[in-house]
Amino acid sequence: MTPVADLAHYMRPGLLQLRALPPLSLYVHLPWCLKKCPYCDFNSHEPRAGADAAAQQARYVDALVADLEASLPFVWGRAVHSVFIGGGTPSLFAPEAIDRLIAGIRARLPLSAVCEITLEANPGTFERERFAAFRAAGVTRLSVGVQSFNDAHLSALGRVHDGAQARAALEEAARAFDTFNLDLMYALPGQTLAELQQDIDTALAFQPPHLSIYHLTIEPNTVFAKFPPRVPDEDTAWAMLDRITERTAQAGMARYEVSAYARPGHRCVHNLNYWQFGDYLGLGAGAHGKLSFAHRILRQVRHRQPELYMDRALAGDAVAQAHEVARRDLPFEYMLNALRLKDGFTLQDFMDRTGLPPGSIAAALGDAERRGWLERDGAWLRPTARGFDFLSDVLQLFLPDT
Ligand SMILES: C[S@@+](CC[C@H](N)C(=O)[O-])C[C@H]1O[C@@H](n2cnc3c(N)ncnc32)[C@H](O)[C@@H]1O
Ligand code: SF4
Repeated sequence: MTPVADLAHYMRPGLLQLRALPPLSLYVHLPWCLKKCPYCDFNSHEPRAGADAAAQQARYVDALVADLEASLPFVWGRAVHSVFIGGGTPSLFAPEAIDRLIAGIRARLPLSAVCEITLEANPGTFERERFAAFRAAGVTRLSVGVQSFNDAHLSALGRVHDGAQARAALEEAARAFDTFNLDLMYALPGQTLAELQQDIDTALAFQPPHLSIYHLTIEPNTVFAKFPPRVPDEDTAWAMLDRITERTAQAGMARYEVSAYARPGHRCVHNLNYWQFGDYLGLGAGAHGKLSFAHRILRQVRHRQPELYMDRALAGDAVAQAHEVARRDLPFEYMLNALRLKDGFTLQDFMDRTGLPPGSIAAALGDAERRGWLERDGAWLRPTARGFDFLSDVLQLFLPDT
């Protein structure tokens, strides 16, 4: 099916009633890394030995632009509020390639006047030297993947940078950008509470406008899944999270999502749109997208292997899978995102984003309130502190009956 024939198919009448389409974001996936980290299950690949990086990047940008071109009928006339260039390691791309990518996007999509454009960067030395050029190419926000400042932990994580490079990268990010994010992970192999606290305090000393702190998870099909490292026990991990919450609050950062902390005015527009069940067009190898129409919600996945993706995208056929979200799955999918937010959601927003009536979740909401997992505050429904800590239990209530 050509994308346009597809489109007529998605525009036809259906069971959902969306009053208006939600805000639209753009995610662009750049799939290469210097070295695959043993804990990582993202679609990231080491380039083939001897590959010509400049030629590969040029062809990949051509493929992204072709992918965007073929996707335009699906988002016709809609403004884009944020762009997130993620990976992989996007900072491996030359600033000229990023410049051409952003120009290609700007030429084809109406970006809002204050459009946030984030780029993920690893803290290697040669990447740091490019930060200012990324800013000049139009990137407005850098997300630096630090993970830890402790050399022993970085080495256990298989990272190619050390703590000193991480510090230098953050100094440069603060110099080159008005706003930036710092990624940390905790519950690392061999990490003590005191070492975690040292990581947090070092991170906070850079006064990051935004901090993302993830519990290290052992993902299936990774090297860590095959050879599990010794990680802190559950009680220690909880104590670490308490310490993180305490220190970030003392530093004036609000925990607004399970793993995200921000100073006022520096919440991540792009991620907020995911958590508010907004729409996103996903370009690039393995990228996922969610697009709403008046009577249905569509999910798309692009071809995952970078070489195959480039071949197919250049032929105007980047989408590997597409499916309509079933009506019965929408409450769970909505809550999976919305309940990650400290502020929760409103029923009006639930109706606007899913096209479902409030009756579709009334029983589950009542149950969650009775169990003390959700509370009402005017029009807002938000997770209680207990609900926030046990989100997977709360979410069970919204699973479709089998
Ligand atoms: C898509 S990764 C890419 C960023 C960049 N390539 C890097 O690694 O620094 C985004 C973030 O996800 C987090 N992450 C990746 N794998 C994880 C895992 N197994 N458990 C917890 N967090 C993980 C890391 O903090 C990482 O910075
Ligand atoms: S650098 Fe980031 S994306 Fe690449 S393998 Fe490591 S964690 Fe995954």
